[in-house]
Amino acid sequence: MAVVTSEILNIVPIDLSNTCLKKGCMDGEVAVVTGGASNVGLGYARALAWAGAKVVVADLNEVAGNETQRVINEENEGDVCLFVKTNITLQEDIDNLAAQAFAKFGKVDILINNAMNMRLNGPILKSSVEDLESSFAISAKGVMMAVKAFVPGMIERGHGTVTYSTTQFHYCPPMVGGSIYTAGKAAATSVIMSLANEVKGTGVNVFCLTPAGVGRIDFSKFPKPKDLPADAPKFSPKMFAMPGFDSMVPPEAGGAGMVYSILHAEELHGSGILISDALVAMDYPFPNPETVMHMESRRLSDMELTMAFCYMGNGFKK
Ligand SMILES: NC(=O)c1ccc[n+]([C@@H]2O[C@H](COP(=O)([O-])OP(=O)(O)OC[C@H]3O[C@@H](n4cnc5c(N)ncnc54)[C@H](O)[C@@H]3O)[C@@H](O)[C@H]2O)c1
Repeated sequence: MAVVTSEILNIVPIDLSNTCLKKGCMDGEVAVVTGGASNVGLGYARALAWAGAKVVVADLNEVAGNETQRVINEENEGDVCLFVKTNITLQEDIDNLAAQAFAKFGKVDILINNAMNMRLNGPILKSSVEDLESSFAISAKGVMMAVKAFVPGMIERGHGTVTYSTTQFHYCPPMVGGSIYTAGKAAATSVIMSLANEVKGTGVNVFCLTPAGVGRIDFSKFPKPKDLPADAPKFSPKMFAMPGFDSMVPPEAGGAGMVYSILHAEELHGSGILISDALVAMDYPFPNPETVMHMESRRLSDMELTMAFCYMGNGFKK
């Protein structure tokens, strides 16, 4: 594996050979990663390629996308990555993405729906309806169009995985301030979890993964949610620290967790998993092993999951 640096992408060398993942465990697989030219999605794309998959990166950002293609191809010393400039809210772009992916690699086995506009973080009363439309366009509509482009081929071959970078916030706690963002994420999560029921038994496995606290994010540059309550805590990387990490989970580790989850997609089908649970399950070599909390996590049943996502509060007092 060649060590490749980038002046455009915020990366460190990726080496997953000290994890339980074996090189080649994704041989023969072709993955599409939307929003794969930055942060979480970039970690997924690089980890998949490290594990042997061919990767198609679909992203709006052409500069970062071209650089992602260069970095992944050089890291893996081969023609394993294709960047396709894509606005996932446009049907013609999704059609072009599918055409280019099939022309280059012949099929798509893995669809990672990960793109989102993280700036859509205003409260309902202060935001425009257009912001809500943009949020749904990327999340719900973009996810559904990508699913329709790639899942029929997976069903035909009886083999595939579909996942979504969801969030633990399906409605918005005051500290986050991102009601428009969370509304879009909830809609897409609903699309994905419903799809899991629709494709049951076809060989296509569908789950959501919450990459909570993954990234190399400069919080000083992060747009402030509009009109946060005065006592809202300030964002800092430490706030997002996962068990075993001092700060945020590096995207390369997030990518390892995603590869591990895809390898266990049959068990996860119709379910959601937090990245920290995936890292604990795979015994990821955490930087501070003594701080790792080995939590008892379990797969929620379909009904529990529906109820968790639909929970609204206590209702009327008796
Ligand atoms: N980072 C976290 O801690 C965290 C937590 C929970 C959920 N998530 C989810 O994970 C995903 C990735 O998060 P991130 O922190 O890497 O975000 P990011 O903003 O760094 O990356 C998002 C990527 O999506 C691309 N994109 C935006 N709109 C697009 C469009 N219309 N078409 C194609 N590409 C588009 C951007 O160019 C960017 O490369 C998001 O869906 C986010 O909601 C992240």
